[in-house]
Order: sequence, then structure tokens, then C-alpha cells
Amino acid sequence: MPMQIQTSTGDAAAASAPTAIPTHAPAALPARLGHILCLDDFERAARRHLPGPVFAYVSGAVERNASLRANARSFEQYEFITRVLIDMSKRSTATTLLGRRWSAPFGIAPMGVSALSAYRGDLVLTQAAARENVPMIMSASSLIRMEEVVQANPEAWFQAYVPGSESEIVALVERVKFAGFRTLVVTLDASIASNRENNIRAGFSTPLRPSPRLAWEGITHPRWLFGTFLKTIARHGMPHFENNHARRGAPILSANVLRDFSDRGHLTWEHFRLIRRMWPGQLVVKGILDVRDARLAVENGADGIIVSNHGGRQLDGTVAPLRVLPGIVQACPQVPVMIDSGFRRGTDVLKALALGAKFVFVGRPFNYAASVAGEAGVRKGIALLREEVSRDMAMLGVTALSELDESYLVTS
Ligand code: GLV
Repeated sequence: MPMQIQTSTGDAAAASAPTAIPTHAPAALPARLGHILCLDDFERAARRHLPGPVFAYVSGAVERNASLRANARSFEQYEFITRVLIDMSKRSTATTLLGRRWSAPFGIAPMGVSALSAYRGDLVLTQAAARENVPMIMSASSLIRMEEVVQANPEAWFQAYVPGSESEIVALVERVKFAGFRTLVVTLDASIASNRENNIRAGFSTPLRPSPRLAWEGITHPRWLFGTFLKTIARHGMPHFENNHARRGAPILSANVLRDFSDRGHLTWEHFRLIRRMWPGQLVVKGILDVRDARLAVENGADGIIVSNHGGRQLDGTVAPLRVLPGIVQACPQVPVMIDSGFRRGTDVLKALALGAKFVFVGRPFNYAASVAGEAGVRKGIALLREEVSRDMAMLGVTALSELDESYLVTS
């Protein structure tokens, strides 16, 4: 008899965690995307769909892409040890994080300018996350007002870059609070702009500079040109950076406007403490790789930590987060330690959980999914990854994610 594998959306999982399970099946993808079987397939589809400069921005990292490659390779450092003859017919991918039950141990990482690669990108991502019951972190570097996003999904988290002056910090935190967000993520690894040579070579900048090359890229990618870019301008006007500060920022397309990258190299934990004093909700820090910084984050009031090298997009040659995860988990037992950067497979997610992560965030694949198929694409991506997690749990011999620990891994 063929083995029956129940995914987290099956009855067994629903029985053990009724609130965590999404209520509607994801919409089918268009026939042209029938080949999508895993998250990596969305990248191949997006490469064809997006203009070169936009794809380069999303997919690229920095300098020689050493961190990007290290992230992808880091999962190979560990191999699984599987258990047998354990009844895993009733298993669940449901996970509790920061007081809330989610359908899966992963969510959507913050990604800048998502509404350039996908029509209404941030809204698409957040609505898909709401329907699939996973957390979505909205990036401050975004083109749709945060108020619209939190209205569409009151469970969305907001990710801020700490602005350079105290008055700007106060104004931004007030705005995020007033908008209705309950979880604020502060990214700490990007106080200075990194060396995105790949963006320059590909013709990407923020704002985008109109040029014959950019026009050609648009013309040769008509589905994106009409379905995303021109549709956005026709229905919503020229997109601007809406959420880096309390006030509106630069437009996305401009010959002469400079985006405000005021120097933030002077920021310290004092600025973080100011945010902590002002922010009544959950406060999560993102971009931590050093155990000392993890401890400082907790001492200064963080409710959670995201171990991250920014998807390999900041300092090239940075350690892959998975390598430093166990040390940070051990140093900070008081808070949930989460992780992002390079996660693509259910097996990647399970390795991080076995090393002590409470949760995983996944970025680029959901951006590609939104680009090529909107909300249905993102929901399909979430469902695919959740099914992988569930199937892999069965083959590992675990019925609840809390059973995972280092005994399921061996270093390779
Ligand atoms: C934004 O956070 C980026 O990495 O481009």
C-alpha cells in the first residue's frame, strides 16, 4: 500500500492546532507556471519575467557574492539522522512564536521595493501570508504606505531601519505604532549602504534613472511592463519610498532626485534603547551574528532576535547565520532566536530548528512568486514549503517541531 503522508493542511494537523491552519486552498497557478515544484522554480520563472535590473536587485548580493554562496552551502554542513517506526500519521507543522500560533515554522522576510517587482507587492505578500497563517515582515524600504499594509493584515510585522536622528526615530516609531503594528523589527546590519556592484552593472539604482537601456528592458518584458509597472502608475500614481521615515521619501523613477541615505554610522545601543522605551509591542532585532550582540540585544530589551546576514547583501564574506546559530541560541535562552538568509527547502528549515532556531524567515523566493503569479504564487510558495516541512518531518520521525534537537543532526 502506498504510504499516506498528511501535510499540515490535513485533518490530523487541523485537529491538533485548529487556529493555525489556513482555511482556503491556494488558488491554482496559471498553466504557464505548471512546472513550479519548489521555491527555486520561482527564481527561474522570475528571471524570465522581470527586467534585468529589477531581477538583479532582488537576486543579487554584494561584491563577489561570497556570503550569498556561504548561506546556500551552510545547510550542507549538517546531515540528518532519521528515526523509524514512529507513528507520524498525526503530525503538525504548527508553531508558536511570540505568543501566536502559526501554520508553519517560517514566514516572509522583509524585502525592499517589492511593489516594483510585483504589482502591489507588499499587499500581495501580506495577504498571502494572512491567508496561509504565516507572519510577514513588511520592509521600511517599500513603496506602499504601511497603513495600507497593516489594514490588509493586522498581524503583519513592520521592519524599520533606525533613522539617523532622535527626532526622526521618534516620529517613525510613533507612525508605526499609530498605524497599528504590534511587532516591530529593527534591522541593525545596514547602517551604511553596502557595495552592490551587481546593481550598478545591471543598471539598477534607487531611484531608477530613466535611460534607453531601462526603456528597452521594459519593452522586452511586456508582462511586467503592463502588468506591474504601468498598471501601478495608472492606478496609484508614481510610487514613492513611503516608509523609511515618518514622511514620504523619493519617487522610484527619477532623473535627478537622490534617495535619502543620510549617514547612520553613528547609531548605538542608546538609539535602540530609545526605541524600546517608546515601543509597547514586541521588539525584534534583525541582523545579529555575534553572541555578544545577541546578549546586548536581550539586555536592552529585545523580545526576539533574527540571526541574519541580510541574505548576503551587506558585508561580503560574512559568516552564514546557520553557523553561529547554536552559540546565539545557547547565549539567549530568554528569547526566541529566529534566522534568515538562504533558506529554500523544508530540510533547510528543519536543520535550523534542530539547531535551536524557533522560526525561519524566507525572502527572495516569495518575492519571485509575487512577481510571476501575485497572491496565488505566494500562497503556492508557502504551501510548497510547508508540505516539504511536513513530509520531511515524517521521514525524520518527528510529529511536532518541538521534538527536534541536535540529536537529529550530524556534521558532515
Ligand atoms: C534591502 O534591505 C536590501 O537588502 O536591498
